[in-house]
Amino acid sequence: MRSIHKKRRIVMAWMGLAILGLVLSACAGQGPTAPTSDATHARGSYKIVGIGPGDGDLLTVRAVDAINAAEVVFCSARTRDKIAPYVNLAHKQVVDGYGVLFRYYGKECAQVTPKERSRHTMSCEQYHAKQAEFARLVREAVEAGKDVVLLSSGDPTIYGPDIWSLRELHDLNPAVVPGLSAFNAANAALQAGLGEVILTAPFKRENRKDTIENLAGHERATMVIFMPRDMQDLFSRLTKAYAADTPAAIVCNAGLAGRQKVITGTVGGLAADLSGVDGRLSIVYVGRSLAQAQFKPEPSSQPAAKGKFYLVGMGPGDADLATLRALTVIEKADLIFAGKKISDKFKDVLAGKKVLNGYHRLFPFYGKKCSEVTGDEKGRGGMSCEAYHRKQAEFAALVREAVAQGKTVAMLDSGDPLVYGPCSWSLTELSDLDTEVVPGLSCFNAANAALRAGVTEGSKAHSVILASGWSVDEMAAHQSTMVLFTMRTQFDKFIQGLSRHYPGDTPVAVVFSAGYAAREKVIHGTLATIGDKLGHGRLPFEHLLYVGDFLEKSVTR
Ligand SMILES: C[S@@+](CC[C@H](N)C(=O)[O-])C[C@H]1O[C@@H](n2cnc3c(N)ncnc32)[C@H](O)[C@@H]1O
Repeated sequence: MRSIHKKRRIVMAWMGLAILGLVLSACAGQGPTAPTSDATHARGSYKIVGIGPGDGDLLTVRAVDAINAAEVVFCSARTRDKIAPYVNLAHKQVVDGYGVLFRYYGKECAQVTPKERSRHTMSCEQYHAKQAEFARLVREAVEAGKDVVLLSSGDPTIYGPDIWSLRELHDLNPAVVPGLSAFNAANAALQAGLGEVILTAPFKRENRKDTIENLAGHERATMVIFMPRDMQDLFSRLTKAYAADTPAAIVCNAGLAGRQKVITGTVGGLAADLSGVDGRLSIVYVGRSLAQAQFKPEPSSQPAAKGKFYLVGMGPGDADLATLRALTVIEKADLIFAGKKISDKFKDVLAGKKVLNGYHRLFPFYGKKCSEVTGDEKGRGGMSCEAYHRKQAEFAALVREAVAQGKTVAMLDSGDPLVYGPCSWSLTELSDLDTEVVPGLSCFNAANAALRAGVTEGSKAHSVILASGWSVDEMAAHQSTMVLFTMRTQFDKFIQGLSRHYPGDTPVAVVFSAGYAAREKVIHGTLATIGDKLGHGRLPFEHLLYVGDFLEKSVTR
């Protein structure tokens, strides 16, 4: 009971402190790509709300606000229990029984094979009837002026079972409130800074090039496999695709405090012994970057009185995309490191806290000998290799001193700190301390929501590659869906690289300022047209480029 009060207090504290966040969330829906409510008809709205994986404190503030503002909440009994301590469900119509209805959506039942039919407890006709019933209930409520939310676990756009409803109810101008994926929570559990990532599943479908076998084997990319239900079968496939000594990990119950479990090893080692591994709520990682993972199988040997270092994901866009867990860590932190931009964004939450700026983007040259740095690399960000090393050492000394005094220290980073994050080096540097990563919503999750489509629902591809400038050519060869973290790479270079592998009429979209309610913007085009649509000038830092035919199903089109 006491813990429920504490959880409510955190939400209330946030509400009291972050006037900025509340104002912003009140503005949600006014961005150029977000649905606008039609005041003249006093209609309500329909939203899919991503509630994240694991415990309820991985809800973002925006998700809490959306649920609190709704009159009708579609969710399972299990979800209701999970979120109850964090939201106010009193006086709401809470409806169970309409989640995971995606099967056979858009398919003629006559075309369903007997083999396919035998896989599911409900028939194609029953699924269709239930989908129609759900759509009717939502429509009636929206027409009656009510705000309706469907709560979907994780990031609803990544192998999500509810995204079909966006297409079915497209005339209601539905929206998606972004949610953390199990992937974000598993990254945090592993404490592994990832480079290129391939999100995939063990599906084997005809005419698909983006199978595990075809995608395997990249030196720098980490493969992340969702829904590994048959672990034995999966690992026997992985042993054929990867060298036996390739690092691998299984994360079970990511984000669930006390029940999260991480098993690390190699592809060969894990394939040989999968006893006791439950594939149901697991996610599998394979790749060389896992060798850097700072996950510690043994509980910390530090005495309880010693302090702790947290790397905290604060989400992209507006402040209300932070999770409740991130805000709790800030509340208890004695010393906080943050860049200027994050300090400004969270100034209300950070009021009265000891905050040090100037230590945020210190990754260049970490672990490198300055004598080996080439002429081109020298002076990155206006600082020499030696100056970076000095600043890194200064940061580590400050953290160590505070932790030794029993203090809680937090480094705040935007997005998911382990997806192209500039602070992940700190986990390696401070690996002798008790460290924890608080998962954060990535700009990728927010941009997925802005696109209002399932990123894993392409006709030609179900896998999604998160790539950066260096890997466009290598990764594009797979014809998978791609999301390019553009950083400072010139946009035209991306288009040239992609055009070597995809036909000119391949759908692309650019999402600018994902997660900022007032300025988020989506531009759709094709590989052949997008350059001219955007003009050829310098683009702002915060944009992501999507490639793939899943975009044809985007509600914005
Ligand atoms: C160094 S990466 C950091 C990613 C971050 N760790 C995350 O998970 O969101 C920076 C790149 O992420 C993308 N990015 C960051 N914030 C964004 C936003 N709000 N909207 C669109 N893209 C964004 C841009 O491509 C940018 O160049």
